[in-house]
Amino acid sequence: MKTNMNRRDFLKGTAWMGAAAMVAGCQMNRFGFGQGGQMQDYAFTGLKGKKIRVGFVGIGSRGSGAVHRVSMIPGVEIVALCDKDPAAVERNLKWLADSKYKTVPKKYVGDEAYKELCDFGECDVVYCATPWALHQPVALRALLGGKIALVEVTSALTVDESWELVEASEKWRIPCMQLENCVYGEIELLELNLARLGMFGEINHAEGAYIHDLREVIPSVGTHYNTEWIWRYGENMAHKGNRYPTHGLVPICQTMGINRGDRFDYLVSLENGPHNVNYEYFKKEFLTDADPRKKDPPAAMGDMNTTLIKTVNGKSIMVQHDVSSPRPYSRINLISGTRGIVRDFPFQCAFEDKCFDGKAHGWFSDAKAAEVREKYMHPMWRDVSDMAKKVGGHGGMDFIMDLRWVWCLQNGEPLDMDVYDLAATSCICELTETSVRKGSKPVSIPDFTRGNWRNVKPWGVVNVDLKKMGLDSGGVKKDEAALSV
Ligand SMILES: NC(=O)c1ccc[n+]([C@@H]2O[C@H](COP(=O)([O-])OP(=O)(O)OC[C@H]3O[C@@H](n4cnc5c(N)ncnc54)[C@H](O)[C@@H]3O)[C@@H](O)[C@H]2O)c1
Repeated sequence: MKTNMNRRDFLKGTAWMGAAAMVAGCQMNRFGFGQGGQMQDYAFTGLKGKKIRVGFVGIGSRGSGAVHRVSMIPGVEIVALCDKDPAAVERNLKWLADSKYKTVPKKYVGDEAYKELCDFGECDVVYCATPWALHQPVALRALLGGKIALVEVTSALTVDESWELVEASEKWRIPCMQLENCVYGEIELLELNLARLGMFGEINHAEGAYIHDLREVIPSVGTHYNTEWIWRYGENMAHKGNRYPTHGLVPICQTMGINRGDRFDYLVSLENGPHNVNYEYFKKEFLTDADPRKKDPPAAMGDMNTTLIKTVNGKSIMVQHDVSSPRPYSRINLISGTRGIVRDFPFQCAFEDKCFDGKAHGWFSDAKAAEVREKYMHPMWRDVSDMAKKVGGHGGMDFIMDLRWVWCLQNGEPLDMDVYDLAATSCICELTETSVRKGSKPVSIPDFTRGNWRNVKPWGVVNVDLKKMGLDSGGVKKDEAALSV
């Protein structure tokens, strides 16, 4: 299966779309917008006040959870389900039927079926939760087919893939958003709120991570893996660098105003060795003789990757990745400024602020920290988290993420994360690998906004109106599947 076509192949394959637009004398997408343009703060109004029709591509573990959550949002209709595995499609169709969902989505089954869905399918939005290597090809195809692309993390794996999404989104004036649910976590939202209230003073440093002990599902050491996990393990075994940077990094970017008043300048990345995983075992047990990795084994990902990013405004960010060590789960979520600091896992804070009558030489007491957490809770978390927790999905943040993109499209507001945010944080995969392989040399990070980062304001404190969306907490049901992803 060819999952990662190069730019040339892609352009060949989609030339008919450009030709069709030329014949029509313009470059309009099917919503009537076109002619290209910057996508920051772009309010897409093509679906304002209309029903939003969604097609899912990749409905394994994560995609099924998304089907369940999205099925509960009024004004959204799931019209298509696509997976290469027919069982995944049937499983989700059955779940929808058992839940008395009114629409029977159209089936798209097979390795290449997503192309038909993206080119001709009846949906407005393509929601992609395939393995990583397919994210960018699916998103690009969706944009070219005139559909909004919502893409799981990590949405693109290289700088070139990231530019292709930027160019397609701009050309067709169609939003492309990375589905970074951690932006909507309680502490991440709290930190954003504190930042906008000026509680940190000037933010000068942040730290994020994906530290998740996944040894249980790593074939050489665990016992609970299944075939679905092999793709992820294979990705990690084939690369160095941080291939899953966004859970820690994107919330930091939203709070620090990356691409909005500041931008990434360069990074350095350092990695230890693979002490907890065994590449030889993987090669022997999981690679066929025909697999090129069998003859030419790449140096596998180390256990811990640590990357430092410098911004053009002189701020620093640390981001880590470790999925193979016996460490408690952490995204770190540290935001530090000239007047205070918050970190997470567990939640701690300290502020030099008269209202807390303290100095930041030690962490606030648990009671004082709880007071901060309650007093400065993000309004959206206050309004929506009870319902979101009931639905499930990483403590509620998954449902808040879905509510937000639906709200924005229904109301013609800009989505919370744009294609430049996707590009800047996804390209970190390739750039960290480059730095690690060059002995931790500094590597420049492209400015995907082409200078427009100077002109746009940081993300604000947003919300949704549940009543206006037709949602009441009595109507939602617990999503057991989403709890397990
Ligand atoms: N944001 C989060 O918190 C979070 C959590 C879990 C997973 N994820 C992401 O979601 C994505 C999916 O992860 P998962 O755990 O569900 O993996 P999975 O293996 O369970 O699901 C992937 C699905 O994609 C399907 N697929 C593979 N090739 C396809 C093709 N050519 N066309 C259509 N479908 C195809 C597979 O059959 C499978 O059903 C990954 O990118 C992962 O990183 C994100």
